[in-house]
Amino acid sequence: MKKIEATVQKQELLCIDEAAGPTGFAVFGASGDLAYRKLYPSLYELYRRDLMSDHFYVLGCGRKEYSDNTFRDSVEKALRQDLDHFDESQLKSFVKHFSYVSGSYEDDFFYQTICRNLAALDEQFDVSGTRIFYLSVPPFLYESIAEKVGQMKLQCPAVSGRLQAVRLVVEKPFGKDLASAQHLDDILHRHFDESQIYRIDHYLGKETVQNLLIFRFANSMFEPLWNRDFIEHVQITVAEEVGLEHRAGYYDTSGALRDMFQNHLLQMLSLVAMEPPVSFDADRIRDEKVKLLRSVRQLTPADVDRYFVRGQYASNSVDDRQMKGYLDEQGVPQDSVTETFAAGKLFVDNWRWNGVPFYLRTGKRLHRKLTEIVITFKTVPHSMFQAGGLEDLPANVLRFQIQPAEGMYLSLQAKRPGSKICMSTLEMEVDYQKVFGIKMPEAYQRLLLDCMLGDQTLFTRHDSILASWKILAPVLESWDQYKTIETYPSGGPGPSSQQMLWDGSSSQWSSL
Ligand code: BG6
Repeated sequence: MKKIEATVQKQELLCIDEAAGPTGFAVFGASGDLAYRKLYPSLYELYRRDLMSDHFYVLGCGRKEYSDNTFRDSVEKALRQDLDHFDESQLKSFVKHFSYVSGSYEDDFFYQTICRNLAALDEQFDVSGTRIFYLSVPPFLYESIAEKVGQMKLQCPAVSGRLQAVRLVVEKPFGKDLASAQHLDDILHRHFDESQIYRIDHYLGKETVQNLLIFRFANSMFEPLWNRDFIEHVQITVAEEVGLEHRAGYYDTSGALRDMFQNHLLQMLSLVAMEPPVSFDADRIRDEKVKLLRSVRQLTPADVDRYFVRGQYASNSVDDRQMKGYLDEQGVPQDSVTETFAAGKLFVDNWRWNGVPFYLRTGKRLHRKLTEIVITFKTVPHSMFQAGGLEDLPANVLRFQIQPAEGMYLSLQAKRPGSKICMSTLEMEVDYQKVFGIKMPEAYQRLLLDCMLGDQTLFTRHDSILASWKILAPVLESWDQYKTIETYPSGGPGPSSQQMLWDGSSSQWSSL
């Protein structure tokens, strides 16, 4: 296929980047991997870009016994490793906003100390705006920390008497099935109302995912085609090259369906397929997303067998590189049947999408990292070029690539210059980085900024979480009973049974 680069008129018509006001963070799990890899570098980038007020602080809360200085040093070290460029004096002044308190998550005294520290830091950094409790801890601690924060009234603005807003940030997974998600919600809602809860699904912070909204609703030419009359099928793929990455404790009780499908994949599905929201407002957008998820056809046990496939990666060697199998990973039980690959075919039973299949898949240790949404249009109803032997014309395909390089691609048929009639497929390409000349910001930057600004658009609302668990409930029920699992060689395209989802169709998975 020939590639052509689309010419893009760089016109900054609408750029909204408001700076956050004074904010105090209390980060639980402050010395954990997620905090060092995502949270602190993103906060630093916002600080560097003047999108954070100078009136901010981060109070690290955790079990490790750190002094303020050790904590600051560890944050500084992590930033030096992570960032491509930084300003020495800016980095020093950034970490001065960090301090630490250690204790046990079950102990009331720990929360009393946090409370005192927060009040003192509010004074020291003159923060009278927003306080954010960030739960960067394993999910089994969410309930107890939220309960304690609530019981000790840390979330109550009266603590300092000056705060205007208090928010709670929770990382996925939000429960492990419908019942546990509902239970977690009940606990969170005991002390925080929905407008205070920010559930992070970091895929929603990725540029191309956000661009789906602009693409669909700021152009008039695609929306009329966005339905069963013109679209043949939709594919969403999140393929990873990495394996378990030392997370056996969490992953082995989760698996690909809970880890990726329930959240990232279904969130992308809802953005691709939802109806146009009436305005760019958090709840109007989230209303449409949940409506879409509720329209996904309820699966029967027979549908699960027909439309869902799972697999687990096995050892393999590719180009002299020896790759471990899932069962050889540290901490994984020898008889584990946890899936590291999950694929499914869903239908959306509404006026717009009736009969259009949506194919979703995700897996670890695949051939390459690739996240994409592929829309395949129907072929032309009649080929006027039959006489020239061009009977089956290829379909137009629109591809949103989210990773590794963010961009959009549209395949079109065109005449090859010269001979009377000879057709080639061209791909119009928009590579975001090339077009806009900037490195794509880390998803957490957008999400943290929005949280400080009080914008919940890119955060998952509780009804949407419950709706997605409901879609997958029959799959979980069925898979949780399986005692065996198909394996696939690491470094390849995944289990061969994934092809079965295409039975009766002339299309197939896009190549990995
Ligand atoms: C996380 C999952 O939510 O997303 C991980 O828990 C996965 O298992 C990660 O590796 C993938 O994120 P990204 O941004 O690298 O595609």
